[in-house]
Amino acid sequence: MKRGMCPGTFDPVTSGHIDIIERAAALLDELVVAVALSPDKGGGPLFSIDERCDFIETATEHLRNVWVRPFDTLLVEFASEVGASVIIKGLRAVTDFEREFQMAQLNYRISPDIETMFIMAIPEYMYLSSSAVKEIARHGGPVEGLVPQQVYDALAERLVESRQGRT
Ligand code: PNS
Repeated sequence: MKRGMCPGTFDPVTSGHIDIIERAAALLDELVVAVALSPDKGGGPLFSIDERCDFIETATEHLRNVWVRPFDTLLVEFASEVGASVIIKGLRAVTDFEREFQMAQLNYRISPDIETMFIMAIPEYMYLSSSAVKEIARHGGPVEGLVPQQVYDALAERLVESRQGRT
């Protein structure tokens, strides 16, 4: 029984994340999508931890071996807690490499029994990120296909609310 973990902030989850989750789930018996609270990232997440988990749960409903859990500890501690022996991360352009390599090294130093593995993003999602999606959406640009439908609707709603808050 091989259980893996796909961690991230997922603010919000993108189609690129879902592609990595689907491909990781196909390689493992079980996959835990670990959603980090990340209160300090980029001035604080746009979506609450419950919203971020809910978006992923809905978008992965078709994957029977995937479950979604929030966490606010060291990643490797959470992996041990849920019995995951491998951390799976998506790797996009070369610019991801240094940060991911650093995190993998640090995680290995803390818990050498937990392996980190990478799945390459497909070309379509190579430059897709949660922050780019938020920026495009904030300026009223097109994000269809870049995020699951529920996220698309929530982004539109949240940005209308923030515009109303400013007027
Ligand atoms: O989506 P992100 O921001 O690339 O995800 C980063 C995340 C949440 C995986 C990373 O920040 C993390 O593992 N946070 C938990 C705290 C931790 O274990 N830090 C040490 C790893 S360097």
